[in-house]
Amino acid sequence: MATLNYKQQDYICQKNETVLDTLLRENLNIAHGCRQGVCQSCIMRSVDTNPPVAAQQGLRENQKQQKHFLSCLCLLEQDMQLEQITESEFAHNLKVLSKQMLNHDTLLLRLLHDEAFTFKSGQFINLKSADNTVRSYSISNPPNKQLHIELQIRLLANGRFGSWVHNEVEIGDNIPASSALGSCFYNTERQEQGLLLVGTGSGLAPLYGILQDALQQEHKGAIHLFHGSRQAKDLYLKEQIQQLVSEHENFSYTACISGEYRNEHEEHYSQGRVHEVALSNYSYLNNWRVYLCGHPEMVKQMQTQVFLKGVDMNDIYVDAFHLSSL
Ligand code: FES
Repeated sequence: MATLNYKQQDYICQKNETVLDTLLRENLNIAHGCRQGVCQSCIMRSVDTNPPVAAQQGLRENQKQQKHFLSCLCLLEQDMQLEQITESEFAHNLKVLSKQMLNHDTLLLRLLHDEAFTFKSGQFINLKSADNTVRSYSISNPPNKQLHIELQIRLLANGRFGSWVHNEVEIGDNIPASSALGSCFYNTERQEQGLLLVGTGSGLAPLYGILQDALQQEHKGAIHLFHGSRQAKDLYLKEQIQQLVSEHENFSYTACISGEYRNEHEEHYSQGRVHEVALSNYSYLNNWRVYLCGHPEMVKQMQTQVFLKGVDMNDIYVDAFHLSSL
């Protein structure tokens, strides 16, 4: 068992316990989000020994050299003195411009940023609530002159952060935010390439941003968007997306329902799980670029399937945040 020293106190890491687990067990207020090495909100710095390589995955080279590491991935092999650096990670204060419901449980949150905040649609940011809870959300709009970003925030049962945003955050409030992170965004290389976008639930957020960016950049290849949910009432932005279909010949949209539904309002949906519906449309996907966002199991299965249909691993972009009810 190793000992960690934090703010002049020693704590013993139990067997198979990460640094984050140890500090939370000791009731210390440590910012964290996904607990899976994705959101980077639990980043800390070793003052003495080098952190384990596995705890530095996804960090930039200069961060590694400064002995930064992700505490949720860090199983200590030797004693370590460490300090928190999250305050500097939340370098931006984003002002709430508007809140608008997109369906029964998903909120469109529009936030004003300054010139120093740069992003590509589809990237994610970490937001920190008043009680230090951190959550990651994807940006669903392209950069614009009004300097605002849009996030789609779903209210989950017992979801502390979502509940705070839905019920307590008010227009004009400032929310601490990280810089934009992640590589799940559109780039203008190979504009003849087909783009396959597949998402579930609020996984639509990065896809909607990537879609708008690709259309604005006049992407030449086909663009196919598949969005799935269990019930029709969980789908959203249908009219806006249909409008884009009518304006762009190379773009198509398929909404999928995996549960039962009655066609009461003459609305058309494909019946079935979104990745199965999407895959049934293609024998081969050679030279396609694929973006997958939403339920981790769907993302995992789809990664394998599109690879088997010919997609280069470098052309598969993934954003798979696990749902958290903390
Ligand atoms: S990367 Fe550690 S909590 Fe998200």
